[in-house]
Amino acid sequence: MTTLASYWVIALTLVNIFACYWLIKWTMKVREGESAVGEVTGHAWDGLQEYNNPLPRWWLWLFYFTIVFALVYLVLYPGLGNFKGMLGWSSAGQYMDEVKTADAKYGPIFARFAGTPIPELAKDKQAMEAGRRLFATYCTQCHGSDAGGTTHFPNLTDNDWLYGGTPEKIKETILNGRNGLMPPMGPVLGEQGVEEVAAYVMSLSGREVDPKLAEAGKQKFVSAGCVGCHGMDAKGNQAIGAPNLTDTTWLHGSTARSIKETITKGRKSHMPAHKDFLGEDKVHLLAAYVYSLSHNK
Ligand code: HEC
Ligand code: HEC
Repeated sequence: MTTLASYWVIALTLVNIFACYWLIKWTMKVREGESAVGEVTGHAWDGLQEYNNPLPRWWLWLFYFTIVFALVYLVLYPGLGNFKGMLGWSSAGQYMDEVKTADAKYGPIFARFAGTPIPELAKDKQAMEAGRRLFATYCTQCHGSDAGGTTHFPNLTDNDWLYGGTPEKIKETILNGRNGLMPPMGPVLGEQGVEEVAAYVMSLSGREVDPKLAEAGKQKFVSAGCVGCHGMDAKGNQAIGAPNLTDTTWLHGSTARSIKETITKGRKSHMPAHKDFLGEDKVHLLAAYVYSLSHNK
């Protein structure tokens, strides 16, 4: 907040609080022509008369109390423009304190796990219980609570990997994140070309397709440059996360329609990096947990 804005907020806040006080005093005043406190006002309805009764004292004191509370609060805590409050409290500070406490408490546990190689850690029951909890907190929103994935988010339990399933590769994925990019090939292939290549791609996993289309598609798979990323045998390339097209695992859907859409418009996938966010030790444990999902069977 700029200094000017800060003074503006301070003035508004204080004026409002004093206005509350003033309002109470003002409404308590007996004006000319009004009856005194405790007397009848002279208003009468069907014989019922109105008294000019004061607010019950406890009620009035509650009003005063809220005013005093507001003032004390604003002296101690941040609330008046840029003034930080005498206690120096802040929500960010409180959060950092809590993180520090948690790190002091759990840090040594993660550090102990961090010294154990991933395949060994994957067999440690206690470690995997901790890993499961971390996964539930940080990963399930994309990969699902059973890590089974959904369309556009890979299954982590099937031992079929976009980027490689060795302990090192899994850890690298979680630490640094991944960006999968399938370029849009519609403009290069044209509609007919997409039909043909899609037929060829589907034939690779043993699906029934028009053999003529597939044959034409096979040519284009080479000439359009699909092989550059997916390989001559279409088995993919883990260095860039190009999927194996000969199996029945599909990242972006298995229907003819979604395959054609992938080829025409391309796809972009983003797996966020967790290095700065979680730190190496937790990522190590998570990598072991992910590893365990397809190796502890
Ligand atoms: C915002 C969504 C999102 C979150 C959160 C997320 N992931 Fe991912 N993850 C993805 C996507 C999308 C991919 C596929 C990336 C690609 O195709 O390039 C992926 C890929 C992966 C892979 C590589 C799979 C393979 O076949 O090589 C691993 C391992 C993985 N994630 C683990 C995790 C773990 C562990 C966490 C929690 C710390 C996590 N992910 C959190 C979206 C997410
Ligand atoms: C520049 C490298 C590159 C080229 C060229 C390329 N692809 Fe891809 N392709 C990828 C990557 C990377 C992905 C995974 C995208 C992701 O992570 O979301 C992918 C995904 C796909 C998928 C989806 C697979 C699934 O499991 O859902 C299909 C189908 C596909 N490509 C077919 C093709 C065809 C056919 C061509 C040629 C016309 C082609 N690709 C050209 C890199 C490429």
